[in-house]
Amino acid sequence: MNKNIDKCISIVEKDKKIYAQSGKIPYFPLAVKKGHGAIIEDADGNEYIDMLSSAAMLNTGNSHPKIVEAITNQAKDFIHYIYPYVYHEPLVDLAKEIIDITPGNFEKRIIFGLTGSDANDGMIKFARAYTGRSKMISFIGSYHGSTYGAISLSALNLNMRRKIGPLVPGMHHIHYPDCYRCRFGKKQCSCNLECINELEDAFKYYLPPEEVAAVLIEPIAGDAGFIIPPKKYMEKLYSICKENGILFVVDEVQQGFGRTGKWFGIDNFDIEPDMVVLGKSIASGMPMSAIVGRKEIMESLDAPAHTFTGAANPLSCKAAIATLEVIREEKLIDCSKTLGEYMKTRFKDMQERYEIIGDVRGIGMTIGVDLVKDRITKERNTDAAAKICYRSWENGVLVTFISSNVLRIQPPLVISKEQIDKSLDIIEEAIKDYLKGNIPDDVLEFSKGW
Ligand SMILES: Cc1ncc(COP(=O)(O)O)c(C=O)c1O
Repeated sequence: MNKNIDKCISIVEKDKKIYAQSGKIPYFPLAVKKGHGAIIEDADGNEYIDMLSSAAMLNTGNSHPKIVEAITNQAKDFIHYIYPYVYHEPLVDLAKEIIDITPGNFEKRIIFGLTGSDANDGMIKFARAYTGRSKMISFIGSYHGSTYGAISLSALNLNMRRKIGPLVPGMHHIHYPDCYRCRFGKKQCSCNLECINELEDAFKYYLPPEEVAAVLIEPIAGDAGFIIPPKKYMEKLYSICKENGILFVVDEVQQGFGRTGKWFGIDNFDIEPDMVVLGKSIASGMPMSAIVGRKEIMESLDAPAHTFTGAANPLSCKAAIATLEVIREEKLIDCSKTLGEYMKTRFKDMQERYEIIGDVRGIGMTIGVDLVKDRITKERNTDAAAKICYRSWENGVLVTFISSNVLRIQPPLVISKEQIDKSLDIIEEAIKDYLKGNIPDDVLEFSKGW
């Protein structure tokens, strides 16, 4: 590598001595100093094209001038005042806007928090209170957050669940419908939705449906490797929920706010969920989460059952209002669709040339490039993913991997076609370097990933 990263390395060394490493998922030694749009600058002045958007938290890119202006102006008026005790206009303005764009042609209510994890915890409370039932169903491979409720709903990684038990009881996990690695060996044309039998069997043999409060699903399985569920699976799951008085809840923390070429991921399936969990890009990097749900569900808890001193921060509210404006004015939902398709086509083209790419899938600007050791066995190629991400970083692109082998392509929706072309050229060069054996093994000592 011919660039200087001395300052970055010294920051990494300091971090290792003071920060609990249980909170780190390193891919490369990047210390961020600046970020504008789809460009990140490190502490040594090196620039990178961002294909990660801070894990889908920056759909409008970094430090968008309109967002910066909104935050700055609000900071001059007041920075915060505990919302459970008082009221303010930024919140009520934002609440109305979000209620208007979230799916569901029924009366809704909203509540705010600080991070996607707390919103999932809150969702459990509302689902239990409204239904009077305690059990919840979520999916193997899912990540819903790091608080106790959210971690109990998640089933991504044993390290997240080790040593901390007992977790919140009543959480059951079933397989996400994965057409690429179909557990029944089916192709989509021959599929009879065998995967839904797991839920039906659960209801028949060990999980009384009348005790289940909610099913929580991501519209695209995010950290499980960007798996796209078949539409007919979603429809069937929804109808099973309705038949059994079970709430259908979507976690839009990662896929919301234009990322999939629609306002929300679930809009691709024409389903109206009972509750929607929001976070990440809602406020363009400012801390904020929200739960939006049917009025009667959101009014089922008695006050003060779900409050946070720092929630509904007016800076975050103003950033969120500006986020919605930017998404509309810059037609970012259309960009997500058209540039997302363009990226997918380019990766599919690479798939024809490199055996190592087993699958390319995605909607809008959530695209997964599944790296395998063998196209028949589909064995996950973790070393390839780690090395390709590392080499791409060395050459000026921030790309990471999830599910141990899937390149995570989630750039800010403001990225230009030129930036996409440059990034994909660099990623392709990294793939070639990997195949030639030109990326050393010591890279693997740093890169851990999800
Ligand atoms: C789908 C999903 N839900 C919830 C969360 C947790 O959000 P946060 O990290 O903001 O608490 C994440 C984070 O990656 C996520 O991807």
